[in-house]
Amino acid sequence: MTRWFAPGRINLIGEHTDYNDGFVLPLALRHGCTTTLSAADEGWTVASAQASAPATVRPSGLAGRDDAPDWAAYVLGALWLLRDDGVDVPPIRIEVDSDVPSGAGLSSSAALVCSVVCALDDHLGLDLGPDGLLDLSRRVENDAVGAPTGGMDQLASLRGEAGHALFCDMRDLTTQSVPFDAAGAGLVLLVADTRAPHRHADGEYAARRSGCEEAARQLGVPALRDVTLAGLDDALGRLDDEELRRYVRHVVTEDARVLDAVEVLRAGRTEDLGPLLTASHASMRDDFRITVPEVDTAVEAMLSAGARGARMTGGGFGGCVIALVPSADVDAAGDAVRRASADAGFAEPALFTAEAAAGARRVSPASR
Ligand code: GLA
Repeated sequence: MTRWFAPGRINLIGEHTDYNDGFVLPLALRHGCTTTLSAADEGWTVASAQASAPATVRPSGLAGRDDAPDWAAYVLGALWLLRDDGVDVPPIRIEVDSDVPSGAGLSSSAALVCSVVCALDDHLGLDLGPDGLLDLSRRVENDAVGAPTGGMDQLASLRGEAGHALFCDMRDLTTQSVPFDAAGAGLVLLVADTRAPHRHADGEYAARRSGCEEAARQLGVPALRDVTLAGLDDALGRLDDEELRRYVRHVVTEDARVLDAVEVLRAGRTEDLGPLLTASHASMRDDFRITVPEVDTAVEAMLSAGARGARMTGGGFGGCVIALVPSADVDAAGDAVRRASADAGFAEPALFTAEAAAGARRVSPASR
């Protein structure tokens, strides 16, 4: 029996920059998914503590994916892809159990996929190494599940480090741990899951991605990462389409905010992260247009209750807000968010505090 845990993530800053070859700064959460693998006599069986019934399928490549329930693709995807890569995957039972809220923008899917991939790598002795684990995890989501996501979530889940955010360059996929010690600065990273239903999130995500690619094409650059802040006005002047101009402005300024965020954290000026978070939110709301009233309301409530900065985290159209709040103001900020949401007739948000936790790891079969 082999057991692995992989966490969900919060993205501190750098939204929708990953698929533009840009920069992101996520951190791994203490919430995550545990995958337990054991040998079986026949077939591939997947059981989820969060799904009603286990599913057993005949071993196959990706071509067999229609035989499995949708949720099981996140688990079986790695098996299908390995089989297509020529790996002989024996009969196996896979049990998954996650405490990452799903649909909250906290990468419950990356936690699931990465824990399965790490457990398989270990169980089958594949020795994929850090790049291979990342590559297989990304292919599960992009090719097996069919979500055109950008790779940040899997990097954070695989490589997060306790007490640190993970600065990722999404062009060459290199990562550097950057100290993130909110408590040391008298601050708390407060998370409000607005529970806003994800409205058209998949289609809107794909539309943003193809819009960014179209803008890069019109500007004659490999990706929007190649437009500098100094060259932004010139680039905007060369685009006719107002929507594409807004996308470019978000991505270019967001990349710059990530670099600034890394600088302030490295200098130990955690509090100075606040204005960058708030500016990121404004950019997502006004230029990239991926926020919804529930998250805008939560951000405003956090700020008016004393947060040093606040923003939506994740792909958008619902999900969680994060805020850097002085320790003494945490209860007031939570109350303010709950009150503002109730006044607006929204669902009651779930609140929790987050610290940067460690990335994927083997756990002893006795635990969890
Ligand atoms: C989702 C995707 C990521 C990234 C974010 C937005 O979480 O899975 O790849 O694009 O949205 O920053």
